[in-house]
Amino acid sequence: MPLELSNQVHIITGASRGIGLATAKLVAQAGGLPVMIARSPEQIGTEAEALQASGHKAEAYPLDITDPDACKAMVRHVRDTHGRVDGLVNNAGTNMVANLLMCKESTWQPMFDVNVFAVIRLTQLCLKPMVRAKYGRIVNVSSVAAKLGAPYNTLYSASKSAVDGFTRSLAIEVAKLGITVNAVAPSQVNTKLMRDGMAVRGKMGGLDADAVIEGIAEGNPMGRILEPEEVAGTILHLLSPGSGSITGQSWNVCGGVALGL
Ligand SMILES: NC(=O)c1ccc[n+]([C@@H]2O[C@H](COP(=O)([O-])OP(=O)(O)OC[C@H]3O[C@@H](n4cnc5c(N)ncnc54)[C@H](OP(=O)(O)O)[C@@H]3O)[C@@H](O)[C@H]2O)c1
Repeated sequence: MPLELSNQVHIITGASRGIGLATAKLVAQAGGLPVMIARSPEQIGTEAEALQASGHKAEAYPLDITDPDACKAMVRHVRDTHGRVDGLVNNAGTNMVANLLMCKESTWQPMFDVNVFAVIRLTQLCLKPMVRAKYGRIVNVSSVAAKLGAPYNTLYSASKSAVDGFTRSLAIEVAKLGITVNAVAPSQVNTKLMRDGMAVRGKMGGLDADAVIEGIAEGNPMGRILEPEEVAGTILHLLSPGSGSITGQSWNVCGGVALGL
């Protein structure tokens, strides 16, 4: 079945760069309207304009997903303007690389606000129009860190495990309503989030970020890290009408590093 999203509207968080931007581009190329969310108005504005200039549909909506009122207003705007919410990609996320003993509540709370609580909030808001339409596709961006574990990533891993558990349970809850809920679990992907995390790991081990990334690439069966477009392709598949029998999954997009999990 072709990955065709004509006339559909998909809200994508963290769409100004990395995996979210790559997903927005694929949604637009498949004929859908990506509603692109990020805090920086300049970056998503520029990316949405570039998509429009190439003949695609795209809308930028700057907002901080940790702000409940702003999230409510955004979903209301999408419903009032377009009359539908076909898909939600909970992609925006933040990393935390630190020895657990050094982690302060003041830093882990904001991470859980973005990685977990905003996912729950936006899902609740988008679920209402999806239930009414008896159709919806929700894709949460998790991580193989939730399954493999990773030193100095305890709290990030915990946040992504929460996303996986939320995905599975909600999938069952709405399974008879035409709504699917899935996650994708990438290994290291060539983005700012990954490079920033590796710079911290490098500092801990007296290496530069490139050396850490090289070591990780060598440990992957494919001998490399992934590109954002590779994860976006899987997200697009899960957003498409043809994926209606796939739900409650957390699909590894990992070059084989998390085999059997
Ligand atoms: N890269 C990897 O190796 C990797 C591996 C496994 C899982 N993941 C997951 O993949 C997802 C995407 O990561 P990425 O690597 O593509 O990251 P990235 O390149 O750093 O992009 C993060 C995006 O999220 C937005 N964002 C961050 N906080 C936000 C907030 N409070 N409200 C709205 N938007 C916010 C950022 O834009 P603004 O800063 O303008 O808000 C940006 O568009 C994350 O959930 C991450 O945990 C990544």
